[in-house]
Amino acid sequence: MILIDGKKAAAELREELKQEVAELKIKYNKVPGLTVILIGDMAPSQIYVRNKEKSANEVGLKSEVIKYPDTVEEKTVLEKIEELNNDESVSGILVQLPLPKHIDKQKVIETIAPSKDVDGFHPMNVGNLSSGYESSVPCTPLGCYLMIKKIEPNLSGKKAVVVGRSNLNGKPMTQLLLKENCTVTITHSRTKDLKAECLEADIIVAAVGIPELVKGDWVKKDAIVIDVGINKTENGLVGDVAFDEVSKVAKALTPVPGGVGPMTIACLLKNTVECFKRSQI
Ligand code: GUN
Repeated sequence: MILIDGKKAAAELREELKQEVAELKIKYNKVPGLTVILIGDMAPSQIYVRNKEKSANEVGLKSEVIKYPDTVEEKTVLEKIEELNNDESVSGILVQLPLPKHIDKQKVIETIAPSKDVDGFHPMNVGNLSSGYESSVPCTPLGCYLMIKKIEPNLSGKKAVVVGRSNLNGKPMTQLLLKENCTVTITHSRTKDLKAECLEADIIVAAVGIPELVKGDWVKKDAIVIDVGINKTENGLVGDVAFDEVSKVAKALTPVPGGVGPMTIACLLKNTVECFKRSQI
């Protein structure tokens, strides 16, 4: 079984990006810039944002974090986004989710210029991805996609089952696999026989947030299994896949932690560099 090392894959991607940023600096005499807006003091968000900033600096991006208390008015945030939209030194804007209840998430997402939307959440990018046009692609599914491609470069005709239909993961993951000519089944909490669906799959991407849902006898021999879940349980942090059981049948599997997580942040940096390059044309 191949244990997919997300930390290593992320380090390799960061190294490639570092090179590219250095070349862009010579060519354009400036570097891509990433601005993150963080609202409130939720611990997980603060940790994510700190990691993002650290990684951005490591590859040579200009990085900025703007912090607001969770009492900030929606208008203040929207005005700041407008300002960043018009700031040429900012290539990518990310507003860390979740947001306080009084702030309309969709309004925030739609205020970010599609060309600076490094999360790929703007409806314009969602639409472009689903139509197969150039777009920013949400970082987590992009990371999953790159790891799958490393294991299996030719995905044409493969059966893929995506467990979970969120806008963040399941839906964009489906689009990426479709683009690769996979036959994709999207499953979710109302799917009648999830086990039977999974057993058909050459590739399973589990992104539902149910601890160890995908069992060993749900997985076809030599399937590639990607675990997007991060669930806090009494036994510590576990994914959506029963790791010990599935590792006995799968061809390749991502661990939790150390699988999808590190690649998500590396892909955010990649998206920032892509936004910068598109803005220079
Ligand atoms: N919070 C957790 N994951 C994400 C993400 O990918 N993007 C944003 N903006 N917020 C998040």
